[in-house]
Amino acid sequence: MRRNVKERDISLYPDIQMIIRCYMSLFLNKLPMNTLSIEDFISGIPKAELHLHIEGTFEPELMSKIAKRNNKKIKYQSIEELKQAYNFNNLQDFLNIYYESAGVLIEEQDFYEMTWAYLKKVHTQNLVHAEIFFDPQTHTDRGIKFSTVIDGIHRALEDARNKLGISSKLIMCFLRHLDEEAAIHTLKEALEYKDWITAVGLDSSEVYNPPSKFQRVFEKAKKENLLTVAHAGEEGPAEYIWEALRLLKVSRVDHGNHCLVDENLIKELVKKKIPLTVCPLSNLKLKVVQDLKQHPLRKMMDKGLLVTINSDDPAYFGGYVNENYLAITKALNLSKEDICQLAKNSFAASFLDEEKKQQMMKQVDKYYQENR
Ligand code: ADE
Ligand code: ZN
Repeated sequence: MRRNVKERDISLYPDIQMIIRCYMSLFLNKLPMNTLSIEDFISGIPKAELHLHIEGTFEPELMSKIAKRNNKKIKYQSIEELKQAYNFNNLQDFLNIYYESAGVLIEEQDFYEMTWAYLKKVHTQNLVHAEIFFDPQTHTDRGIKFSTVIDGIHRALEDARNKLGISSKLIMCFLRHLDEEAAIHTLKEALEYKDWITAVGLDSSEVYNPPSKFQRVFEKAKKENLLTVAHAGEEGPAEYIWEALRLLKVSRVDHGNHCLVDENLIKELVKKKIPLTVCPLSNLKLKVVQDLKQHPLRKMMDKGLLVTINSDDPAYFGGYVNENYLAITKALNLSKEDICQLAKNSFAASFLDEEKKQQMMKQVDKYYQENR
């Protein structure tokens, strides 16, 4: 990076720089001793991710390697051609490629490698806790056993806990374009692994597949002491968010962008402290927003909503959690204080126990005090 002449000159005299900083820090109480760039500040802040589809972390390079190993053909001639196909006009455009790509995952080791690759990547981004969605029906409908899927994912999560110090929770999603009977069957299979699963969720094509379609299966999940979340208000209307709250009794709403058109809904979300897991780069790539500068995050924060920043499907949308923080920070001109609030929200909105939440939020505050 080119620096201007003044910056270069002063950097020749670190002592002078230090004296100036001390002076400003002491008398103006503005610049602390080590002011980080916004990129470094985001990179270093401890954070959790609460909206992440493990199948959406499947990078083309790993996909190609696993496809070869399993003698599966990918529709595209090269990795470049595949990446060029990641030009979506809406959610369905993306889902078509996402489900097709997941078709190369066959063995337990494949699910392990995909999950492990994500965890290794976000470890470099100071992610300390991940709540991860998986879509068993995407695989069981192709004849892959439920156990193959969950065993591979779970093994990687355990390795991450032991080797990388990343804690995690697993959220099993029902595909809302399929019928409720299929979801009930999937729930039955999942109950054998109840100790590994924290919550159930609802994803895939939102429009015309309202939460009400899945009321019975969510009631059954609740009876089994599973928590509930649901994608709502990404492409669908505010009414779907009401349904997710009233009928599915969700603890969190995934996306929730369209809540802003309904003042009563906003009041309800604020009053009940229901978090929204917002995904800026996903919203941009799937044309939920035309420009990140028009993203509703700032408005959501100003309304007092408990919002968090997440990556959704990072291999498809051009960024992991830090890239999402950075893109929205630049677009909306967020401050370090805003970023600190968002990182604290990520723990407050998580399914960690209260003591752990408080501990992590204190760590974020400490980081802010040392690096603001
Ligand atoms: N599955 C993976 N990503 C999704 C998204 N953004 N919305 C709905 N279903 C999904
Ligand atoms: Zn999602």
